[in-house]
Amino acid sequence: MRKYRKREHIENYLRTTFVGDPMFSDVFLYHNSLPECDFHEIDTSLTFLNKTVNFPLIINAITGGNEFSEDINKSLAEVAKHFNIPMAVGSETIALEDADACESFAVVREIIGDDGVVLANLSGHATVEEAKKAIEIIKADGIQIHLNPAQELAMEEGDRSFKNVLSNIENIVNEVDVPVIVKEVGFGISQDVAKRLYGVGVRNIDVSGFGGTNFLEVENLRSPDNDLSELYSWGIPTAMSLIEVKELNYDELDIISSGGVKSSLDVIKSIVLGASMVGISGEILTYLVHGGYEYTVQYIDSLIYKCKMIMMLTGAKNISELKNLDYKVTGRLRELVDYDK
Ligand SMILES: Cc1cc2nc3c(=O)[nH]c(=O)nc-3n(C[C@H](O)[C@H](O)[C@H](O)COP(=O)(O)O)c2cc1C
Repeated sequence: MRKYRKREHIENYLRTTFVGDPMFSDVFLYHNSLPECDFHEIDTSLTFLNKTVNFPLIINAITGGNEFSEDINKSLAEVAKHFNIPMAVGSETIALEDADACESFAVVREIIGDDGVVLANLSGHATVEEAKKAIEIIKADGIQIHLNPAQELAMEEGDRSFKNVLSNIENIVNEVDVPVIVKEVGFGISQDVAKRLYGVGVRNIDVSGFGGTNFLEVENLRSPDNDLSELYSWGIPTAMSLIEVKELNYDELDIISSGGVKSSLDVIKSIVLGASMVGISGEILTYLVHGGYEYTVQYIDSLIYKCKMIMMLTGAKNISELKNLDYKVTGRLRELVDYDK
């Protein structure tokens, strides 16, 4: 069932038609006509989970568990290695239930090698033992724990109980040897949820907000008799989620921006708003399925080039200078965040 569902997720993702808005267009950056640096000096590298990566982009969690997923994971891992950027595997629950499914995840570490960053992935219901096993399968540098109540409710066979997830995450944070990244799957993290996560020791949050992959629609395509389309606009847009979590001003908290990140401006604006890294799933999967490895490499190559152009045009030579740029919040986003900028 789970193996079949993995394939359906990818096929249904490609069939979705609802277009959300992560609201990055309501973030305005200043053009700098006196950048005072040379293009070749622009440096996009940074340290993530104690390793150097060349660009602040994670190939975010997508899949694993069957042959179809293994082929996708192999290609994604080749792309991650080519650019020296981190990659997260999809939920490893399937590998905990079926040893045959392990290789479709392990192959990611085999391809990326020990120098690259690879992230494990499980749900908020996972036990400490399961988390340790998921980390071991791919020798992970960190583990993503996903929160997905909207997705589960849209699945006929999905979870209906979401009790004790926070204390469960606290146990995982206390017992595993690698950093824990708590992430949504496209509905955003509110300020209150971020506070509660921080309170139990979580120091990495991927807001994975509304505006990109829409799991209400992806799941609804599996059971069309139960029309959920009136809920497809549910969720906290990524830019709003980022601003609200950043506003907490927690020194030790690293924020990751994902959910509808596609363009160079989305990447740069995410970092200016306070993210340390961005994550992309849907857009990379689309390029991979439609055009294969070469096409995906071209997309990321051009994304990096355009990010460097924007860095130059804002006068930011590196990622830390980018984080300190001034910006304005406009339009509906400004109303939503009640932001005095
Ligand atoms: C086909 C597909 C499968 C996914 N599977 C997982 C998963 O197993 N675990 C997880 O944490 N997120 C999963 N996600 C969610 C993404 O990691 C990400 O949070 C979400 O898609 C929003 O980012 P995007 O708009 O760039 O796709 C999946 C996304 C897609 C498109």
